[in-house]
Amino acid sequence: MATAILGLQWGDEGKGKITHLLAQDADMVVRFNGGPNAGHTVIDRGVKFGTHLVPAGVFYDGTLNVLAGGVVVDLDVLRAELEEISAHIGGSPDLLIAENAHLILPYHRLLEEIEGSGAHFGTTRRGIAPTYRDKAAKVGIRAGDLLRPDRLRERLAWRVDQLKRQWATNEQVAALDAEGLADGLLATAEPFLESIGDAAGAIRSALDAGRRVLFEGAQGTLLDLDHGTYPYVTSSSTTFAGLGNSIGVPAPNVARRIGVLKAYTTRVGEGPFTTELDDDTGILLRERGGEFGVTTGRPRRCGWLDLVAVDHAVSVNGATELALTKLDVLTGVDEIKVCRTYRLDGRTTDRFPLSADEMEACEPVYEALPGWSEGLSGAERVEDLPAQAVDYVRFIEEATGVPVGIVSYGPAPEETIHRTL
Ligand code: IMP
Repeated sequence: MATAILGLQWGDEGKGKITHLLAQDADMVVRFNGGPNAGHTVIDRGVKFGTHLVPAGVFYDGTLNVLAGGVVVDLDVLRAELEEISAHIGGSPDLLIAENAHLILPYHRLLEEIEGSGAHFGTTRRGIAPTYRDKAAKVGIRAGDLLRPDRLRERLAWRVDQLKRQWATNEQVAALDAEGLADGLLATAEPFLESIGDAAGAIRSALDAGRRVLFEGAQGTLLDLDHGTYPYVTSSSTTFAGLGNSIGVPAPNVARRIGVLKAYTTRVGEGPFTTELDDDTGILLRERGGEFGVTTGRPRRCGWLDLVAVDHAVSVNGATELALTKLDVLTGVDEIKVCRTYRLDGRTTDRFPLSADEMEACEPVYEALPGWSEGLSGAERVEDLPAQAVDYVRFIEEATGVPVGIVSYGPAPEETIHRTL
């Protein structure tokens, strides 16, 4: 009954649409990693949303939306998103925030700025890395701390004092006021206090009772802290391998693992990108695909499909099925290139290097496939697509060894093919 949706590239694969579609049949939707660095584009009943933190079940009545322990929560962002969505659906979505989820506080965003890591790595500047760093250093503030205000004040006072000693010459840090921070945080948290609880227990019970649980991944495998292109990665586990740890339930209980991949590749921020196109085709993909960040508005770097990277991501996630998105963006491209191997130091390899330096040195080896010019609208089955598009889908299946269960060829929910596998 449980399904996980995971990105197989550098994020922005179109997970938002796929999750929104599948969430309509879910009893529980669980976001399991990252924070408001994510940007999921969702069209619900004709209205477009760019969500960052809320699980996709917020659009449906009776669905419990869980922010699991591996998520970092910015309560201001959460409040703003819930207000917008409540106005749209005419009610308040059901929400459960894991007591062990860490909170993003104003000083996390400040630290990212003064350390310069936002500019250096091209991060989303949402305070993600400093928050996960505090978690690992055991100096973070968790959602459960909001239920014990005295303890929260104590921990905040200690942490702010520590920051002031570490950043003795920085005026903005010197101006931090632990009491004021605690007052503000507790006021913002007030409407959420009843929603904070034992998420792992709730997920376990739902799975045991055979409820339909959907796990919603953010970012993509190549941004995974351990399995991505370190150090140009995010700070959470974006993969199925990390899911079990975040939710507190053994991952094998999730049998359907959908890896979402875009028909081409994009990346925002810094870091190696072997199949990047610096030519007119790259510009065409960006414009046709609307490839601008949902969270930051930055233009995304665009390139051909990199099946070496996808293959790595399929393995890390044990993907049982693929969801291929944005196939329509390739319509009208005469010749579509796909990379299945790299050239590195004069040799050909199909191994995805985990070191950014090694990856910078890789050159793509392309195979060319004929494109199609006909529009894809109205296709209900893969066989309804132009012959060359069918071949492209089959090529991806053959190269990855994983069947394509979903094909998306436009932003609207109806521009989707669902296959029974
Ligand atoms: P951070 O997650 O803000 O620390 O950013 C680290 C890297 O991950 C940067 O290159 C970001 O652009 C990228 N990133 C983080 N979240 C997303 C996402 O949801 N989609 C695409 N890229 C992301």
